[in-house]
Amino acid sequence: MNKERTSCEQTQAEGSATRKILAKQKEFLWPGHILYYKKPVPLDYGCGSWVTDVEGVRYLDFFGGILTTSVGHNHPKIVDRVGAQAGKLIHSSTLYPHENHVSLAEKIASMTPGKLQKSYFTNSGTEADELAVMAARGYTGNYELLALRHGYSGNSAVGKTLTAQSAWRVESNIVPGFKHAINPYCYRCPYKMSYPSCDLACAQDVEEVIQTTTCGRIAGMLVEPIQGVGGFITPPPGYFSRVAEIVRHYGGVMIADEVQTGFGRTGSKWFGIEHWQVEPEIMTMAKGIANGFPMGNTVTIPEVADSLAGQGHLICTFGGNPVSTAASLATIEIMEEEASPDVVHAKGVILRKALESIGENSRVVGEVRGMGLMQGIEIVVDKKSKTPAPEVVDEIFEKTRLKGLLIGKGGMYGNTLRLTPPLTITDDEIDTAIGVLQEVFCEIG
Ligand SMILES: Cc1ncc(COP(=O)(O)O)c(C=O)c1O
Repeated sequence: MNKERTSCEQTQAEGSATRKILAKQKEFLWPGHILYYKKPVPLDYGCGSWVTDVEGVRYLDFFGGILTTSVGHNHPKIVDRVGAQAGKLIHSSTLYPHENHVSLAEKIASMTPGKLQKSYFTNSGTEADELAVMAARGYTGNYELLALRHGYSGNSAVGKTLTAQSAWRVESNIVPGFKHAINPYCYRCPYKMSYPSCDLACAQDVEEVIQTTTCGRIAGMLVEPIQGVGGFITPPPGYFSRVAEIVRHYGGVMIADEVQTGFGRTGSKWFGIEHWQVEPEIMTMAKGIANGFPMGNTVTIPEVADSLAGQGHLICTFGGNPVSTAASLATIEIMEEEASPDVVHAKGVILRKALESIGENSRVVGEVRGMGLMQGIEIVVDKKSKTPAPEVVDEIFEKTRLKGLLIGKGGMYGNTLRLTPPLTITDDEIDTAIGVLQEVFCEIG
């Protein structure tokens, strides 16, 4: 800690340690690795809501890793549990039952809505979504699936095909069987309507896509309750229940991708889809599930999981890993003690109020949206034209970084700020972040 710098010194941050890492990054890692900031920030250690880079510069991590460090960096309880488990047994594979593995599945069954009960643990959100697609097809006997435009689902062939932003798709990796419906993007409604007089016209598009681009029977539809990489697009009330009716009418199941919205992130509820009173047949989760340890999970109603028995062996070498599951069990325990969905809701209200006040005074804030501690700010050239302004986002990024605040960005046009601090963020830390944002928006005008 004693080598930490103050935020006003941070313009000189790129020292020799950073340069060495960046040189090796360039030489030995694929160029496809996207790095935030003009001068990327190699992190060295983390504690709670704070991280410190290799030059000793300290930042408030208001992106929560990448919505991963649900209860802050290196929470002592997680460090202890992981250390104890690593000293006992690091690896078992899914070939052997393990206490942590079954206990975590039991715990998750007690948190998820409806009849969701049976888990299959993997290592990432991509794998969780891939397995969900397989399960929907196996259960329904149908092949085609729907997803939403602007969605993001991962790095594999299925993940990239489910994804509906050209920048994240790779042509050679596109597979057949997926169609995309209009997303409920009220701020830029493609029908130029407004809620509620629109009568959820975008939900009706799901039926039209099924009728016009599929053979009329579908395996299901995968949706993010709030689109994450898409820029925290938050559907209006009633949207998902209308969609679920249509999907089930055509033989499909609902798959809620809770990779970003899960585990209390949206406040008041453990999972995002619960805000829309829909009980999906399949739910996927990753990111915040284990506070940064690699883990994905696909949880289904018993009928779905049971229908897959006899359809081919499944194995996941690192699935249900004893150390990752120890981390996840500890993470959930800490959330229950320190950051329950109700606590997150209350903190989200404070953050949202402050962001709306910034928005009222700034010409470049088009919309503030999201739920709980998942808040987005869509940045535009001006409120009237609504023209996306990714270059202003880049400016905000550099300015906030210099003032010691790390944030995220996303959106189809790269013009939405994503603010997702750890769920254990304190009121003082929220104030600190708001102070920096106020200063930066004031400088931008
Ligand atoms: C909603 C959603 N689904 C799936 C994924 C893929 O997860 P992973 O990067 O762990 O493979 C992501 C990653 O950002 C995501 O945001």
